[in-house]
Amino acid sequence: MKVLVFDSYEEMSAAGAEIICEQLKNKPNSVLGLATGSTPIGMYDALAEECKKGNADFSKVTSVNLDEYYPISPDNKQSYRYTMNSTLFDHINIDINKTHVLDGMTNDPDKTCKAYDEFIDSIGGIDLQVLGIGNNGHIAFNEPDEWLEVGTHKTALTESTMQANARYFSADEVMPTHALTMGIGSIMKARKIIILINGAKKTDALKKMLSGKLSTDCPASMLQLHPDVTVICDRAAYGE
Ligand code: F6R
Repeated sequence: MKVLVFDSYEEMSAAGAEIICEQLKNKPNSVLGLATGSTPIGMYDALAEECKKGNADFSKVTSVNLDEYYPISPDNKQSYRYTMNSTLFDHINIDINKTHVLDGMTNDPDKTCKAYDEFIDSIGGIDLQVLGIGNNGHIAFNEPDEWLEVGTHKTALTESTMQANARYFSADEVMPTHALTMGIGSIMKARKIIILINGAKKTDALKKMLSGKLSTDCPASMLQLHPDVTVICDRAAYGE
């Protein structure tokens, strides 16, 4: 894995945006795999800026998001569909019909998840996948467990993830206990991966991810098997 360490969140966000702009220059009709959460927000802001300046063209891009809470309506402000629209899609020239987020309202999660993997395969796979990492080492919502799922699937959120994400939900909002998520195999099929990591609370997860050992206790450690991963982190996350 290539590891890039930056002094600030702003610098790492700019570096991530630069990689995506480069990807779009080389392949305007790229399939981008996208993540939600707080980490990529700075990069999404930078991309919106580049798009405004004419340095990034998303008109031919197809996007697929990693995950979605379950159950949740796309109109719910906490849903990842709503979040993607408001943090990125509303600010760039992407065709909204070519943006894909797992359906948090489906009556048949298994069918929806299987169809998501089939859809990604049918459009030629993901060219560039953006990831964040959970404090517990999760990627997408592949949580630490005895085993990891290969394909897209429904999963229960761990106590640690529920606590970490509680900050987004107000007291009167019910936080979903489950999610639909791309599996480790779905993620590993991406041709290129960037993983953004900031803040000292992620240091343990980052260390385990780079440890040279694979463990289902740290799902991100599986990325060590991928041939093209760039870790983009700040000094606080990288540690001493
Ligand atoms: C979100 C996702 C999650 C987050 C992770 C980090 O789509 O897949 O794995 O990347 O929980 O979240 P933040 O960036 O909020 O610390």
